[in-house]
Amino acid sequence: MEDRQSRASGGEGAAKGSGDDGAAAADMSNKFNDTTAINNVGSPLNSDEVDTSETSAQMLAIDPAAIDFVSVISHKDGNGLLNGLPAKELEAIGDDDDETSNTGAASTELSAAAAATSEVEAPPPEIPAFVKMFRGSANYIANHRGTTAVYHIPGDLLEWDGINDLIDDIALTWLLGMKLVIVIGCRPQIDARLDHKHIDPIRHSSIRVTDSDTLRIVKEEAGFVRFEVERQLARSLRVVKSAHEDEFSGNVVSGNFYSAQPFGVIDGVDYMYTGFPRRIEVEKIRQVHQANDIVLLTTLGVSPSGEIFNVNSESLAATAAGSLGASKIVYFTVRGTAFRNKETGKIIQNLRVTDARNLLQHYRVKIHSKGFATVDDTGIDETEGDKPSRDDMIQSPATVETLLKAGWAVSALDRGVKRAHILAPTNGALLQELYTRDGSGTLISRDLYEGIRPANVNDVAGIYDLINPLVEAGTLVPRPRDVMERDIRSYYVYTRDNLIVACGQLKRFEGGFAEIGCLVVSRDYRSQGRGDAILGYLERLCLQCGANKVFVLSTQTMEWFVERGFAEVGVNQLPPSRRAVYNHSRRSKIYMKHIDGDRDLDAQELWWNR
Ligand SMILES: CC(C)(COP(=O)(O)OP(=O)(O)OC[C@H]1O[C@@H](n2cnc3c(N)ncnc32)[C@H](O)[C@@H]1OP(=O)(O)O)[C@@H](O)C(=O)NCCC(=O)NCCS
Repeated sequence: MEDRQSRASGGEGAAKGSGDDGAAAADMSNKFNDTTAINNVGSPLNSDEVDTSETSAQMLAIDPAAIDFVSVISHKDGNGLLNGLPAKELEAIGDDDDETSNTGAASTELSAAAAATSEVEAPPPEIPAFVKMFRGSANYIANHRGTTAVYHIPGDLLEWDGINDLIDDIALTWLLGMKLVIVIGCRPQIDARLDHKHIDPIRHSSIRVTDSDTLRIVKEEAGFVRFEVERQLARSLRVVKSAHEDEFSGNVVSGNFYSAQPFGVIDGVDYMYTGFPRRIEVEKIRQVHQANDIVLLTTLGVSPSGEIFNVNSESLAATAAGSLGASKIVYFTVRGTAFRNKETGKIIQNLRVTDARNLLQHYRVKIHSKGFATVDDTGIDETEGDKPSRDDMIQSPATVETLLKAGWAVSALDRGVKRAHILAPTNGALLQELYTRDGSGTLISRDLYEGIRPANVNDVAGIYDLINPLVEAGTLVPRPRDVMERDIRSYYVYTRDNLIVACGQLKRFEGGFAEIGCLVVSRDYRSQGRGDAILGYLERLCLQCGANKVFVLSTQTMEWFVERGFAEVGVNQLPPSRRAVYNHSRRSKIYMKHIDGDRDLDAQELWWNR
């Protein structure tokens, strides 16, 4: 402190020492004084205190004598290395500090704490939340790098307070290696303009009829939203690029990346300039991605004959994502409604595509091939006890919005996209969804378990054929046919063209334990992800029936399980009833895995569903 003070007034000593230069310095300082603009800013230094002979580096320099040494980690006994030095050596350095009496109150406290820890076992140091979070994200960052994602942004979000942050986050996903296509809608902007011009929007079956006046407005508003997003992205990309211009420089490119075709006349209604996407220029988009740029699509598509058509932006996003074979599509909602399980009261974070399809069917949501979606609300009035009827539910615009997004998400998955996310407009939702285990929205994923089903007695022969060679080789324990018939309900099979190509067994034990066994993939079908699929399926079943500690016994396949998150444990870790029948002479190794939730399994699937 003392040194800092003397430094603050230290210009004095320096000025004195400057000898003959004093006059010149005084002259300079007068000029400095004359610079009223600077003095007015509130500089605490008057002209006498300023040594104009100092360079800027000297003026900002820290006096080495003012730098103290304190430990910022708790010391521990033994030979543990702390900051690259043995703990004892660090303690010795602490002693020296004491002798010179050069330590402040904080370091004395730390030394006392260090001394205390040499007697009492120090608790493991707290890992800062950021470090944990960043480490947790590494897997997701690695996985998403180089993959293609389509983000659909409804026009309404351009008015949202968080739009700048959202665009920054989009730029960050680009910086982290994702190849992006952004589809921007402009529905509210068009409606506002029509309203302003006192033109009633014409709609049939909730589809806009785009006449020539409306088309003109669509062109203007699509242009407006395009430039708004380009402008904001340019700002964000400038923020995230900097040091490595070549590697990280990025542009936003918009253009004729798709063609459109007209709706035509349906049920006697001419939809005029309303159209739907016809062909996505996949190669052109790939070239843009190769140049490390971002593609921006608006709802105006040009037909080969040169006409312009107004297309539905959600449909465009799904079509583009499907044509590009994108690994993910992200739909943002405006009203931020999520799905909740009525029985558990919990928000549903994951939906298998089959469940999503059932939901859409339940609410009569239909995605039409001409790129529009409808919710049929006629004749629905059944009530379920005191719960609101479907009719009540679909009166809410927020519910309808979420259902329609789910419909578009399913449409994208049907076109080959691997995962679809529906996100509410909350700050940071995108980053949280893509890079954290907990996510933030609803993930709808393709059914990776198609072909897997519970086994029945008719499958016994097929399972037997599959496992027999491994039993003979000693990899699997023999299972008498009558025992397998008796236990058949614990077996699951993976079939292809009615042929059993893989199987697995799941047995539940007390205390939240479950054992996976008899996991076999037919030799001809190996290394195609079927082992992963059946393991993932069995793990999901475990979770569903309340078991979160899964174990396997193996003599040959240890590495395969370790690579999938299992860790070796001792026999004493088995549930008592399983420990009692453990075959000590076989000496199988035991591998266990804790599954906390669906999101753990999702993260795992990311790798084999890339
Ligand atoms: C283990 C097994 C189920 C994996 O099935 P699969 O459909 O080939 O699995 P996946 O396609 O998901 O994974 C294949 C990967 O696992 C690797 N793998 C296969 N067997 C392995 C083993 N014993 N140890 C380590 N890795 C193994 C493959 O080399 C391949 O790696 P790659 O993707 O780098 O080429 C299959 O190899 C099998 O049936 N093995 C014999 C039975 C057995 O040991 N079962 C376990 C006891 S319960």
